[in-house]
Amino acid sequence: MEFKELITKRRSTRRYTGKPVEIEKLRIAMEQALTAPSSKNTRSTRLMAVTNLQKVHALGKMRDWGSSLLEEAGAAIVVLGDESASPMWQTNASIMATVLQLALVNQGLSTCWVHVGDYLTLKDVPDSKTTEQYVKEVLPSIPEDYRVWCVISIGYADYVPKPLPPYEGPERILFDE
Ligand SMILES: Cc1cc2nc3c(=O)[nH]c(=O)nc-3n(C[C@H](O)[C@H](O)[C@H](O)COP(=O)(O)O)c2cc1C
Repeated sequence: MEFKELITKRRSTRRYTGKPVEIEKLRIAMEQALTAPSSKNTRSTRLMAVTNLQKVHALGKMRDWGSSLLEEAGAAIVVLGDESASPMWQTNASIMATVLQLALVNQGLSTCWVHVGDYLTLKDVPDSKTTEQYVKEVLPSIPEDYRVWCVISIGYADYVPKPLPPYEGPERILFDE
């Protein structure tokens, strides 16, 4: 896919057809995402594919807002960070998550970032469980010392997202001449 087509096609997609996601496509995209740069080449990010649909859909309940799209996704990839490897583990994880989304789109799949970070499961309940803790309960195979940064929801889109408002080029792109 041409780069321009790829970046245009990468749109957050929150409804999927239910067509199964091929594991080989996930493997290729994850291998490509590993080429993402990292601070001091610390390579602190790990990726975990989740293809068991019961678990993918359970991840949709990680929060009481903004995560339910996973309840109909065909797969998910959890983006993990080794915080002992780099103080920049969150930045490294974000960069890899973005490259991963583009690699998945290049495989004909659609994606959406579902954030974990420091979010709580219940946004108005300050002592509710953390989203990270919830994700680790759904996926006990996540190594204890890895942090959970985000989950990429994956599937075949059942709609074409509406175009975003035009970008504010002159305001956001600066040239110091
Ligand atoms: C750091 C980050 C966190 C996000 N978290 C969520 C999320 O938890 N749930 C969700 O539905 N979308 C989430 N998104 C998707 C954004 O809402 C989306 O990228 C934005 O609205 C722009 O739309 P586009 O991706 O189609 O260009 C997140 C995106 C980023 C980059």
